[in-house]
Amino acid sequence: MDYKEILATKIAGLVNMDLNELKEYIEIPPNPELGDYAFPCFRLAKELKKAPPMIAAEIKEKMELDNVIDRVDVVGGYLNFYINKEGLVRSTLEDIYKKGEAYGSSEIGNGKTIVIDYSAPNIAKPFHIGHLSTTVIGNALSRIYKHLGYNTVSINHLGDWGTQFGKLIVAYKLWGDEAAVNEKSVMELLRLYVKYHEEAEQHPEMDDEARAWFKKIEDGDGEALSLFNWFKELTLASANKVYDMLGVKFDSYAGESFYTPFMPATVDELRKKNLLTVDDGASIVDLSEYNMPPCLILKSDGATLYATRDITTAIYRKNTYDFCKLLYVVAYQQDLHFKQFFKVLELMGYDWVKDCEHVNYGMVSLEDGAMSTRKGKYILLEDVLNAAISKAKEIITEKNPSLEKKDEVARQVGVGAVVWSPLYNNRIKDIVFSLDKVLNFEGETAPYAQYTHARCCSLLKKAGVFGKEAELLDALDTEPITSSNAVELIKSISALPDSIKQAADKNEPYIIARRVTDICGKFNKFYTESRIIGESENVMRSRLALVAATAKAVSVGLYLLGVEAPEQM
Ligand code: ARG
Repeated sequence: MDYKEILATKIAGLVNMDLNELKEYIEIPPNPELGDYAFPCFRLAKELKKAPPMIAAEIKEKMELDNVIDRVDVVGGYLNFYINKEGLVRSTLEDIYKKGEAYGSSEIGNGKTIVIDYSAPNIAKPFHIGHLSTTVIGNALSRIYKHLGYNTVSINHLGDWGTQFGKLIVAYKLWGDEAAVNEKSVMELLRLYVKYHEEAEQHPEMDDEARAWFKKIEDGDGEALSLFNWFKELTLASANKVYDMLGVKFDSYAGESFYTPFMPATVDELRKKNLLTVDDGASIVDLSEYNMPPCLILKSDGATLYATRDITTAIYRKNTYDFCKLLYVVAYQQDLHFKQFFKVLELMGYDWVKDCEHVNYGMVSLEDGAMSTRKGKYILLEDVLNAAISKAKEIITEKNPSLEKKDEVARQVGVGAVVWSPLYNNRIKDIVFSLDKVLNFEGETAPYAQYTHARCCSLLKKAGVFGKEAELLDALDTEPITSSNAVELIKSISALPDSIKQAADKNEPYIIARRVTDICGKFNKFYTESRIIGESENVMRSRLALVAATAKAVSVGLYLLGVEAPEQM
């Protein structure tokens, strides 16, 4: 039952205003003594030209109570609603048992496609912790939108185009060794690339050679292509290891180079639409009118640029997928790039550019400072995950020495802990990554949520109802779960579907992470207060029903974030 919806519907009927707008205004009071939901009437004061307390009194007067709402109070300019506990408990439990894994799912996205561009590592560069946010935020968004009924297309827009690949070939031919590259993979390519930059300072003629090799790649020269494809395979193999650990899958790996054949048409179109200006030999779209530096389309040698590729890519995606939204999960360092090429698409007359969104996020740094691939200061994401897994194993071994499948659980907990860190805050927030913090079992972390889930499962197993939870609903007595701690827990569980929708509306998975944490905190309060095993059959069954609902809600929330929920820990 969506209480905000129910209340908004009631209010909408009385004040003649838009339901969705009213729904947005409804709050959950910080203190349950002020009601389960509150409606701030000052939001309507301007429209209705009346003082908020008066509006509140009038709405209260006209509102009919039923078995959903027990009481309405007017406090200042607020209407405070007290919902019927019995109804809340029963409807929430019924909903969650009926839907199971699909709890909080919806059909709002049916028949619509959302394209999500995320992860997008650059070929021949290490897959480091800087790729964590884009990969896990993109994965979470794709799961969230699927849950809401959308058809999603996950695209890994590989950075596989540019003169740097010419440079890499020059470096490989000068100093490279096949066996070393095969053995050390991207690390060796990086070493070659760094060496190239050191040497090219003394020998600028190397750059001409690099350009020539890059041209050979573009022209499909056999040797150039086979080297390039080899570098690409090595890079993808190391990224794929991480994707497997994270449970991340892509529908397409069409990267920058994929769009090469479509570039001339984009340039032609820009020219025909009179958007190109020649500036110092380069072709640009002048954006000074919009207070932005020009968008570079062609270099003086005729080569296309990152923005040219993105313009072409967006048009291709619109034609191919007819998306209702195209999301780019890319760091905020590229804010300007997105603003610029979105503006160019708009000037080209593509009104669907309003459906394109740069889902930006903050930087990840290590406790001892920022990272730089150039300087060789970075950590591989794979190493971070492995470190988290071994640390999780130490903690688990200490806390629960007799646990079966320790390795499996350590993997779920270690990976979950790392995945959680960019998902627990507003995306835009910078993160300082610390292994100790993400693995804290008592903090607002993935292991804390996973532990709560495992605790619920073990209670259900102990009581012999694990896997047969739905039977708990038969002849359910709700009375033993109407204490204020139990009701607060149920309210939080019943708010998960709305949190999922909000997470999608704002492209902010943290809304789900916070909801899951809230459910766990409330469960732990309830559990401390209420005895379960050892109570009379009636009381025990009703409390177990709440335990099972908690487990389900937490596992659904974790799944949407890309975190596994072990049954034991
Ligand atoms: N490869 C780029 C980078 O590492 C990110 C690409 C993001 N996607 C896009 N369509 N521009 O910076």
